[in-house]
Amino acid sequence: MSSKVSAVLSPSPTSPLDVTSKSANKNGKVLSKLAWEAWGNSEREKSAGVRWWRFIRFLCTAAWPVGNRRLQLHCFGLGLCVLADRAINFLIPLNHGQLIDRLIGSGTLSRLDICRFAVLHFLDTGSITSAIRMSLLCPLEHYWVKKLKVGAFDRIMALSGDFHEGNDPSTSSKLISSGEEFSKVMIDIFLLSGPLLLDTLSAKVSLYYIDARVALLFTAVAVTYVYVYHKFLLLQQNPQRQLFHDLQREVDVVREPVLNWRTVSYFNGFKLESTRLTEAIDLRFTTQKKSNLYTTFRNAIQASVLVVGLILACTIISQSNRSVGEFAAMLTYWTRLCDPLKCTVRTLSGLRERIARVEPFTEIFEKTPSVVDAGNASILEINHADIEFENVTFSYPGQRPILRGVSFSIQDGQTVAIVGATGSGKTTITKLLFRLYDPQSGSIRISGKNILDVKMESLRSNIAVAPQECEFFRRSVTENIKYANHQCRMEDMHGACKAAAIHDRILKYPKGFHTVIESKKLSGGEARRVNIARGLTPKKRVLVLDEPTNGLDNVTIAWVQEHLRKDTKGRTTVIISHDPSLTRNADKIVVLSEGRVVEEGDHDTLLNMKGHYFRQYTARDS
Ligand SMILES: Nc1ncnc2c1ncn2[C@@H]1O[C@H](COP(=O)(O)OP(=O)(O)O)[C@@H](O)[C@H]1O
Ligand SMILES: [Mg+2]
Repeated sequence: MSSKVSAVLSPSPTSPLDVTSKSANKNGKVLSKLAWEAWGNSEREKSAGVRWWRFIRFLCTAAWPVGNRRLQLHCFGLGLCVLADRAINFLIPLNHGQLIDRLIGSGTLSRLDICRFAVLHFLDTGSITSAIRMSLLCPLEHYWVKKLKVGAFDRIMALSGDFHEGNDPSTSSKLISSGEEFSKVMIDIFLLSGPLLLDTLSAKVSLYYIDARVALLFTAVAVTYVYVYHKFLLLQQNPQRQLFHDLQREVDVVREPVLNWRTVSYFNGFKLESTRLTEAIDLRFTTQKKSNLYTTFRNAIQASVLVVGLILACTIISQSNRSVGEFAAMLTYWTRLCDPLKCTVRTLSGLRERIARVEPFTEIFEKTPSVVDAGNASILEINHADIEFENVTFSYPGQRPILRGVSFSIQDGQTVAIVGATGSGKTTITKLLFRLYDPQSGSIRISGKNILDVKMESLRSNIAVAPQECEFFRRSVTENIKYANHQCRMEDMHGACKAAAIHDRILKYPKGFHTVIESKKLSGGEARRVNIARGLTPKKRVLVLDEPTNGLDNVTIAWVQEHLRKDTKGRTTVIISHDPSLTRNADKIVVLSEGRVVEEGDHDTLLNMKGHYFRQYTARDS
């Protein structure tokens, strides 16, 4: 593990709990590199052994708290606990054998013998080591969960529109949450599976001292046991895969109707959905039965292997001249050895499934955002808030071209309306302006600077927006509106709400501005107006309003329009709208059709052209 890698992986040694987004970002980058190495390119990387080895390496790098002495000591402490448990496992059978021999020889036990016996059995309960282990593990687990989850969260949030618009958001959030499971997998490997393997090995060594043949026999038993297990695992692969698939399907069959409860109600789909769920459950259990059959066979064969092994071991010991104590010690070792063997195999099989489940978590770190700051990106400082689109061409990943050579310009302080049929690419223009995507060709300039050459954060901090989609957090109205500008004064926020014609309505909510927004309980018009208020709260030089009055009644539109006129004075404003009352007074109207600018000019000029704009305008009026 390179020290550079380790240094980046760990949070600051002075504040181990302070995972800032910067450090998490770094964590993400390093984990990303490791994950890539860990899982490799499936085309190039086919050997399961190498994949396992790399996974373990990734795990170790993620686990080791570099630069944090206190947590490193915790790791050492945990290691000592593991060794102490192994030592007890080794000593107990030995002690049993000695006690039996002593009883047979002298018929009595000394106080020291009894004390030794009692202490060993007390330690064997694990009450001391498990208490120490828990106190050492808790801070480490805290560290791991934070590092993995924040790393994954930052990584996913830094991905661009192609990822977020092309994937189910609930899958992404589940993936981030699986960081928790990943840390449990680490604990299982380091504190369960690893020690169990040690147990198996140490018991073999102990048997070797009693009788080398018994040790050899046990090795043969262990190999057969694992071989049988492995063979059945291969046989069970298909039913297991099918089971996983059936379970996923069942989850979807439950999730979708619940999410689309309204659609189910409108179309009386309750019976249909209920039948689909019943069928999905039946299907899963049919597969489950098949899989169970394999497990029953496997258990029977494995049990036979252990019993045959034990009979042979007893025969070997009884034929050699061993004391009763040695025979008893062998028996104890054998039993204590079979348990870890069974456990190891069971744990490893569970672990295999869990690793397969958390595998997508490591894949998060393989993804790279398609939109990133250029190496020499500068901070955007707006002198003149001019915006210029020059020959911009864009298509969503794997889709037809949406913008085909779009060019238009907006001068500082101008209000420009972008109109056009649904699907003509208007909202896509907003996404490009905010760099949710980058265009395939052409350039977008603000204040004379290509937006690809400036830092994204500075670009976004210079533009205020009321996007087309009204998305809110389940937080208070105030928190949602101030999300656009956390420093904004309360009177500015109230002013923005008044301009958006939502102020008085918010005051009527049960807790006024403290009411928690539940998107489903807001009417379309209310959501639209809160969305406008959020866009108007920061006083930025550039303002983008995407369909701001969509779905509002005429009286509200007139109110909002009046206030927007005041609010947009001196600001470069882009209004995307179908609403002629909103676009009519714009300094310029850009008409988009199928991703091309087909007309440009003020309202009267465009009407006189009798082209696209004229047709849209008159169609609406008629
Ligand atoms: N994330 C996306 N992935 C693929 N296609 C998209 C995506 N977003 C929008 N589109 C498609 O791009 C076209 C333009 O969309 P948009 O810019 O939203 O149109 P509008 O002019 O109505 O605002 C539409 O055909 C739409 O289906
Ligand atoms: Mg749109």
